Amino acid sequence: MQSFITQSNFFHGHNPEEIAKTYGTPVYVYNEDILRARMRSIATAITKYPYRASFSIKANTNIHILKIALSEGCNCDAMSIGEIQMALRAGFPCDRIFFVANNVGADEMQFAIDHNIMTSCDSLAQLELYGTLNPGGRVAVRINPGIGAGHHEKVLTGGKKTKFGISEEFIPRIFEIAKKYNLTIAGINQQIGSLIMDPQPYLDAVSNLLRIALQFKNLEFIDFGGGFGVPYHKLDDEPDFPMQDFRQRIEPLLDAFVEKYGSVPMFYSEPGRFCVADGGVILGRVHATKHNAGKTYVGTDVGMNVLVRPSMYDSWHDIEVIRHGDVVARDNMVLQTVTGNICESGDILAHDRILPKMQSGDLICVLDAGAYGWCMASTYNSRPRPAEILICTDGTIKVIRRRETIEDLFGLF
Ligand SMILES: Cc1ncc(COP(=O)(O)O)c(C=O)c1O
Repeated sequence: MQSFITQSNFFHGHNPEEIAKTYGTPVYVYNEDILRARMRSIATAITKYPYRASFSIKANTNIHILKIALSEGCNCDAMSIGEIQMALRAGFPCDRIFFVANNVGADEMQFAIDHNIMTSCDSLAQLELYGTLNPGGRVAVRINPGIGAGHHEKVLTGGKKTKFGISEEFIPRIFEIAKKYNLTIAGINQQIGSLIMDPQPYLDAVSNLLRIALQFKNLEFIDFGGGFGVPYHKLDDEPDFPMQDFRQRIEPLLDAFVEKYGSVPMFYSEPGRFCVADGGVILGRVHATKHNAGKTYVGTDVGMNVLVRPSMYDSWHDIEVIRHGDVVARDNMVLQTVTGNICESGDILAHDRILPKMQSGDLICVLDAGAYGWCMASTYNSRPRPAEILICTDGTIKVIRRRETIEDLFGLF
């Protein structure tokens, strides 16, 4: 693909240079149509049985984006009181929020209990805590299925080497604790990892969790977790996650389970990245170029404070270059290393990347930044965090989070 921006009409006819001048750089820009299409696609991944996609708020906590997820029929899952509060503020009713707790204190668990929010316990110790706080309650447990999948060791959330979930061998202890506190185990959940492009490992994990589910009686729900990927190498024509194929292949697994189990629980997925990744980009400005020891460096204002994924996970983000408002054709390409403006040698957005030759004043458009972008941004080097703007379906532009100011930083002292 020559240009994702052009092909998707990402800016809805607005000139990106005008956007950059009006809202400043760096700026997160979202496209409502793309967000909605992604959310709709995963929200209808299973149609034969009761099913909902729970948008995993951790991927993008902007309240305006949560409202879009709600309007597309998603539930949501939250990892903290902060995320629960965001969901509540966006309008999610308590019974459509799932608290996937990990090593939380009694106060955090009590908050969920007080709001009647279904909570998943990640360990036997957390289940004990839940039992002491809410005897007789309904609760879920997170299973560590013993398998993981994903793009980087740091995003594997299932399998023998991760901190998450309760191993299958401890299921008898779950029942003992449940009995002790008169708890109903209403649901089980899992999460095997992130950025899964091939349905097979996810489907294997579904089969495995359904096998484990047979050990639990009267489950109200089974949550298979998120992890669905989007192509981060779009410009090299990486194919999309084959959702249609996935839909067809998951159904027989559910058919077989329902027949054995004798009742039909609610099924959930927990997609984060899939819902928001390619509905968001970052516009940044090139401020300097230079040569050092045979390398060409392009210095921009998209540092690791704005997008940490490349520094943290060595993640790839496609980059398009915009000059005077137009996407620069990918023909006169040279090897360049694109960096940010943070005082860290690891502050590199793209190592030795073949890109159109850049110059000061150009804009870069960093693709697929809608997931784990702003929500992982920081104020490192005392740089206020960027604004977020939404290009709405009707073409209007809405500021959905204002740019932070230095005054905001002072305000905490
Ligand atoms: C428990 C849980 N649910 C959902 C997600 C969302 O994952 P993804 O963004 O890959 O869909 C994560 C991410 O790690 C997670 O830990």
